Parts: sequence; structure tokens; C-alpha cells
Amino acid sequence: MSRLKAVLPMALLAICSGLPALANAANLTISCGAVGAELQLCKDGVEAWSKQTGHSVEVVSTPNSATERLSFYQQILSAQSADIDIIQIDVVWPGMLANHLLDLHEVLPANATQGYFQAQLDNATVDGRLVSMPWFTDSGLLYYRKDLLEKHGKPVPQTWSELTTTAQEIQQAERDAGHAKLWGYVFQGRAYEGLTCNALEWIGSQPGGGLIDAQGEILIDSPATRTALNLAKSWIGDISPRGVLNYTEEEGRGVFQSGNALFMRNWPYTWALVQGPDSAIKDKVGIAPLPKGGENGTHASTLGGWGLSVSRYSAEPKLAGELVAYLTSAQQQKHRALVGAYNPVIESLYDDPELLAAMPYYGQLRTILEDGVMRPAAVTADRYPRVSNALFDRVHGMLSGAAPVDQAVTDLGNDLKRIKRRNW
Ligand code: GLC
Repeated sequence: MSRLKAVLPMALLAICSGLPALANAANLTISCGAVGAELQLCKDGVEAWSKQTGHSVEVVSTPNSATERLSFYQQILSAQSADIDIIQIDVVWPGMLANHLLDLHEVLPANATQGYFQAQLDNATVDGRLVSMPWFTDSGLLYYRKDLLEKHGKPVPQTWSELTTTAQEIQQAERDAGHAKLWGYVFQGRAYEGLTCNALEWIGSQPGGGLIDAQGEILIDSPATRTALNLAKSWIGDISPRGVLNYTEEEGRGVFQSGNALFMRNWPYTWALVQGPDSAIKDKVGIAPLPKGGENGTHASTLGGWGLSVSRYSAEPKLAGELVAYLTSAQQQKHRALVGAYNPVIESLYDDPELLAAMPYYGQLRTILEDGVMRPAAVTADRYPRVSNALFDRVHGMLSGAAPVDQAVTDLGNDLKRIKRRNW
């Protein structure tokens, strides 16, 4: 819709509803939302702000895959287009997109970031410029079917090997009993950013496992990586359908929510949906930290999350900043947490009695968030997409059987050395 076309109905609405029709009612465009209830929640927030202010806003939806979303934004930003004022950006993008984004200190009130987790603000700050206002935080979780574990007398798995054997046994027993479609484990296996998050959890949970450390040292070519990837490869066609090689968050959720998977790796938003009124598995689901890589390993959950940024090419930066402040306000964060399980980035909300009552797993989630592992986006900055692409392509190749595990790990090590050159 053109800006003019969008302004007209808004002015008419203002007149009909008795609100003063703003002579200078401006028009903004925001691109937000993707998985679960995100798009609807964003639209609701925008609509509430529009009603309050009389400004019209167009909401542009985005692809589900974070990697596709990034290329969509990169095209718009590199064309210096004023078509989109506000974009929703991933916690791994500030370093690479900073030059195209406004320093929000210029448009937000001085106290706008008060009470936010400092780590979130640090991540959104590049060379002293606040390029994104943190909106919600994410971490990988293990979802399990409480009822099936109980029925088969199995505990929640503590290690990836235990997850594998429990999944094999219950999948077999249930299939024998007529539940032919049941799979043991679903996760994000498509060649995109989601697979990077999963692979880092498998690798990082092994003793000595890692991709790139905080100093930029490449760690990937290690026995820990080989152990982790060999196990993951064994899942394909055994406890995970081959189709998992094309799953993003939503495809896996579809299988789990219809009752056809025992375990699922996903982000917290899934909780609100699997516990929703039309879910086939309502009240049959538990969440736990992702398994460790063996007895001496650790629980490694990839940290994710999203913020809102204003494009430097926006014709309405001040107004865009006002909408960002509204959408990221404590009241909106609380609402989004209650309705959609999008987790707040304002610390005090984790002690909010209403939220604690509605979200029985909040205490547990907070620990998982605190132990979360960041992707190496800060140290690799604008090379991060190439690092992540190399990782998900090589891991996808080995999962699909196109390359042996050893070869994939050696090739990945060489890819990263080439991308790094002298330093990142
Ligand atoms: C979630 C995370 C985000 C991550 C993406 C990968 O949306 O919040 O950080 O990049 O999943 O699919």
C-alpha cells in the first residue's frame, strides 16, 4: 500500500471516531513478526499506538527463516530505501547492520533503557551507538511429552545419548502399539540460522566443544565436534524424520503439537502454542534444559532474541523512535510474555506476580537464560553471516549424507580459516 493510500483511511477513521484528525498524521512502516503469534502481537501493539496517536502504520510481514529475513532486510537497507522505517532485528545482526541503523540514543528519552538487562543493551550497542532496542530474549529448550515418559517409566534425558536411546525405545513401543506416525525427536535441520543454533548446542555441550571463542580463536576442528555430529547424524531417519532436514521452527512445532513427536528442540514461544486451547497435547508437555554432551559435558542453550531498530533512511526517525519505545515498553513486554511467551528483557518483569502465576516455568527459564551461550557474532561482526552459512551448510551436508562427518568438520575448519584471514 502506498503511503498516501494508507494515510487516507486513517484520517477518515479519526474523523468518524471523533478523534482530532491530525493535520500532519504521519505514516510509518514496520517490518516485524514471523513465528507463532509474533505477527499478530506486533499488529495489536501497533494498532494500539495508532489509536492513541492518530498516526497510521503499515505492518510488513517477513519470512519464517531468520536467514531469509536477513537477506530481505539487507536488500532494503543497502538500497538505502525509505520504504521501511522500523525493522525487527536478531541478536546476531547488530554488528553487521549497524551502519544502516539509527543510534536510538538520538530519538529515545534518556531513561528509555532503564531496567533492561545490561547484557542485552551491550549486545545492541555498536561503537557506543544503541542500534536496536532489545524486545525479547530466547534460548533453546527441550520440550518433552510428560505423558509418554511417564507411561514408559523414563526420566527426562540428561545427556544427548540418553535422549537418543529413550527416543528409540518409546518410538518403537508406541509404533508397535499403533501410533505409526510417532517420531522421537524434531529440531531445526534446514540449512539456515536455526541449524547453526542447534549445531552449536550439540557441539558446545561436549567437553571442550566450541566454534569460535571470545578472542576469535577457531575451535571447531576437534574431537568434541566429531562426537557431537556423529550422534546427530545417527538421528536422521532413525528418531528424526528425514523431513527434519527441511524444518524451521514452525515445521517441527507442527509435528510436535499434533502429537507426533516425543521430544522437540524449540524456543520459548512454542510453550504458549502447545499449551493453547486447540493444541492436541495441552497439559501433556514439559520443558527442560537441553541435554548435556555426556556426563562431563554441560547444558548449552543458544541464546537468541530480537530487538527493534530504526533505519537510517527513515523519513520519520523521531516518530519511528516513539513507536519503538511504545512497543518495547514494560507494559507491552508483559503482555507479549503473557499471551505469546515472548520473554521480557526488563529484569523486574521476572518478579512480576502475574507473570509468575501464568508461567509456572519462569524460574527454570531464567536459569536456562542465564546459562545460555551466545553465537560468535560480536567477535566476527560483519563476517558472522559467512561463518554461520559455512556452519549450517557443512552440517546440513553431513546430516543429509552428502559428506562424511570427518570430511565436513575438516572442510568447515578450512572455511572458517579462509573467512577469518588475519583476524575477523
Ligand atoms: C529465534 C532466535 C534468533 C535465531 C533464530 C534462528 O528466532 O530468537 O536469535 O537467530 O531463532 O532460527
